[in-house]
Amino acid sequence: MEKNEAKIRIDYLRELINNANYEYYVLDNSLITDQEFDKYLRELENLENKFPEWDSPMSPTKRVGGEVIDRFKKVRHKIPMLSLPDVFDLTEIENFHTRIVKENISPTYVCEYKIDGLSVSLHYEKGILVFAATRGDGITGEDITHNVKTIKSVPLKIKEPIDIEVRGEIYMPKKVLEKLNEERKIKGEPLLQNVRNAAAGSIRQLDSKIAAERKLDTWIYHLPNPEDYEIKTHEESLEFMSNLGFKVNKNANRLVKGMKEMQDYIEDVTQIRSSLPYEIDGIVIKVNSLDSQKKLGFTSKYPKWAIAYKFPAEEVLTVLKDIVFTVGRTGRITPNAVLDPVIVMGSTVKRATLHNEDYVKMKDLKIGDIVSIRKAGDVIPEVVERKIERRTGSEKDFQMIRNCPICASPLEKKKDQVDHYCMNPMCPAKKVESLIHFCSRKAMNIEGLGEEIIEDLFNLGFIKTIPDIYSLDKYRQDLIELEGYGNKSVDNLLSAIEDSKASSLERLLFGLGISGIGDKTALHLVKIFKNIAGFLNASFEDFKNSKDIGPTLAENLYNYFHDEKNIIMLKELNDLGLTMNYLGDNERHHDLISGKRFVLTGTLSFIDRESLSEILISYGGLTSSSVSKKTDIVIVGENPGIKYEKAKELNIEIWDENKIKGIVNSL
Ligand code: IVH
Repeated sequence: MEKNEAKIRIDYLRELINNANYEYYVLDNSLITDQEFDKYLRELENLENKFPEWDSPMSPTKRVGGEVIDRFKKVRHKIPMLSLPDVFDLTEIENFHTRIVKENISPTYVCEYKIDGLSVSLHYEKGILVFAATRGDGITGEDITHNVKTIKSVPLKIKEPIDIEVRGEIYMPKKVLEKLNEERKIKGEPLLQNVRNAAAGSIRQLDSKIAAERKLDTWIYHLPNPEDYEIKTHEESLEFMSNLGFKVNKNANRLVKGMKEMQDYIEDVTQIRSSLPYEIDGIVIKVNSLDSQKKLGFTSKYPKWAIAYKFPAEEVLTVLKDIVFTVGRTGRITPNAVLDPVIVMGSTVKRATLHNEDYVKMKDLKIGDIVSIRKAGDVIPEVVERKIERRTGSEKDFQMIRNCPICASPLEKKKDQVDHYCMNPMCPAKKVESLIHFCSRKAMNIEGLGEEIIEDLFNLGFIKTIPDIYSLDKYRQDLIELEGYGNKSVDNLLSAIEDSKASSLERLLFGLGISGIGDKTALHLVKIFKNIAGFLNASFEDFKNSKDIGPTLAENLYNYFHDEKNIIMLKELNDLGLTMNYLGDNERHHDLISGKRFVLTGTLSFIDRESLSEILISYGGLTSSSVSKKTDIVIVGENPGIKYEKAKELNIEIWDENKIKGIVNSL
């Protein structure tokens, strides 16, 4: 077959396979047999191998997975990906309804299932899927295109050659999780806790083969830019997306007016919930008219035109087998319930915190009791009560310990407080916990330094203190030789550590783990004291006179910043190059970007120009369209224009794609 002929056949096969996928995975309809499908797919694979010039990353042959990335690129959402306010009962729904009616709106609502998965944003250009991103923190997500391409209900090509972004949920069907867990049990691997974690875990894989095996699926439910397509209602936007080839849960949705109809929908869904092949954790109620949505607007976190009604928490009975104690980073001792494993709202619960001695006594818990468990919020398991009528007399009384379970030092209880503390500053449990806290997501957010790895590195003697984290590179070879770590993962870990030096002062302060200082208080404090020197020089009164800081917190802060060991450690961190100054609310800082003037020319394959400009600006950079003597840096992509020549002529610093990609990925 000659080249052009091959192209015609390749296009034909791609169309045919995409269409068969659509019929099967979106419409639940088989056009061709499995054998025929495999035959066409193999023919296409052969042709693509033979004519690599016609190969394409968006070919349906790429759906089987196999693409491996080395790290997740960050993607900024042009329109923030908001979540929804949760409500838990009819009164709260009624309040929502009343608030809308008060705005002189006579609302019709679209009620939808709240799918238990993770949200995704899909971007198409000229009808072709160009990238897919997670929600992340709503502003910045992660590029998960390689994995999303393996989800068969996500069209690689939609029915119109338009530019569009749609949003929806990636989920794992219940059956898939069951089967996966059966396999994992046989292999002795830890079980996946619930469909949401399982779906999120599959999407966060660098190797797309794993996501492909996990048989993920989607429901698409949101069009962020309906006005671009002259759409007037949410219902129309769903129809529009469905017509483009997306999987929209049309049969599940219902148009309702008023409280009675909403209540009926909730009742109907509650009835059939357990028979659905996927998990739902509630119902989403959205104002249908887009004009009304516009009128209602948004808060900083949520749209005011939608709510998520969460189903009531399910309570399950199990046996309280034991009560064991753990030591936190501040030395606080927590009793924990060891439970006979039970599934609560789709995930296995084996442990639940019992907070402190008084809590256990207040609940009158004995070892051996039958207890009811529920999920507080929706993730943290909670022991509700012991079933006194089920007692047999063989239950054992709870005994609070008097010594640290790790280092055996005597425990102390501060006056008027409920918690017991291990006071030994050298207690290994405290040290490990404080390292875990320092690296955690809300603190320095060092990807790759999770609980277990930190424990390993601590036990190996590689990391004993916070500054040791930043000298881990001296153990690079030892790490590579350790089981389970490879060259690449060690280098990724070391670069994540290096990148974290640029984390904000508020993250650092929170990461230090000073008793009582949460992430919000940390931000509040850095706005007042501005830099680490400000904290070191502050008196007890300075802390106490700060707004919202009570005497206990002031004492904790003063003691922390006047402890010789901490002063030395902070100096070390300063010398290592960590951010020690508050850089402002939204002003982010990057040495190579802030204050610099950029010009962009040519095409970059990893990001579009507009998004890159936004990122540069958000880090205090400036962008302009033409090169002049004032330009600091010219970023050059493929097929650059005259600006590149001009930059060379004026001897201006030039960054190629690799350089800017490296920087953007590290932000
Ligand atoms: S609408 C601005 N509809 O629930 C509109 N969200 O708590 C944003 N979710 O982050 C979302 N099913 O991940 C919407 N039918 C549905 C949904 C849904 C599940 C998730 C989504 C969102 C979270 C909000």
